[in-house]
Amino acid sequence: LGQKIYYYPSIDSTQNKCQELAKEGAPEGTLVVADQQTEGKGRLGRVWHSPPGANISMSLLLRPALELQKCPQLTLLTAVAVVETLHEFCGISAQIKWPNDILINGKKVCGILTELNAESDRIHSLIVGIGLNVNTLPEHFPEDVHGIATSLRIEKGEPLRRVPLLQQILTRLEELYDLYLAKGFAPVKKRWETYAVTIGKKVTIRTLQGSLSGYAEGIDESGVLLVRREDGSVTKVYSADVEIHG
Ligand code: BTN
Repeated sequence: LGQKIYYYPSIDSTQNKCQELAKEGAPEGTLVVADQQTEGKGRLGRVWHSPPGANISMSLLLRPALELQKCPQLTLLTAVAVVETLHEFCGISAQIKWPNDILINGKKVCGILTELNAESDRIHSLIVGIGLNVNTLPEHFPEDVHGIATSLRIEKGEPLRRVPLLQQILTRLEELYDLYLAKGFAPVKKRWETYAVTIGKKVTIRTLQGSLSGYAEGIDESGVLLVRREDGSVTKVYSADVEIHG
């Protein structure tokens, strides 16, 4: 991964650029990195703030020969790679909130956005976007995320070097991706579960279709969240915002 890297001091969104490259036939492992994004995209149509000089904004192009329904597994795999890198790189123990928020002390430090391009049941490309708040200071964060977002600098009390951190994320991602292609999702799932804060908690799930409450039992083999309702039935949740209750 990262044999070919496109770097931009400023770009609308690394995700959009990577999509473009994917359509032009760029090979697996192509990486787009930017110092600043002017129109960074978050999940569920949200805005992702990437001020200059502060964060890691990267999008990676993958072309796995997988069935469509296995794609969420790669989002979970990416979260594992980031959490393990943070531990190695700066001794921080981060947690994963399903599906892909990475938290430190309950505050979000990293978001992952995966976008899929497929035709019938064949994956053309999968774009994995990682936005990691590295040296962001509290005053960089917009009003609406005050109190819910953090950065490595805020947590460690000192700035960190972004390039070696990015290199380590990429190395760890490659290691996990190879493991996944060789052995399937089970070993990755096991590691994901050790970092997950959602599992075993009462949760409220909000989707565009409405909300539901229940007990987060775990994830299934494809990475879908299983929520047990009061009547004992289990609902499969594919994509949502999750609120955790104690
Ligand atoms: C989320 O909503 O939590 C996902 C945020 C993903 C942000 C990253 S930054 C690099 C890539 N480019 C984008 O425009 N978005 C993703």
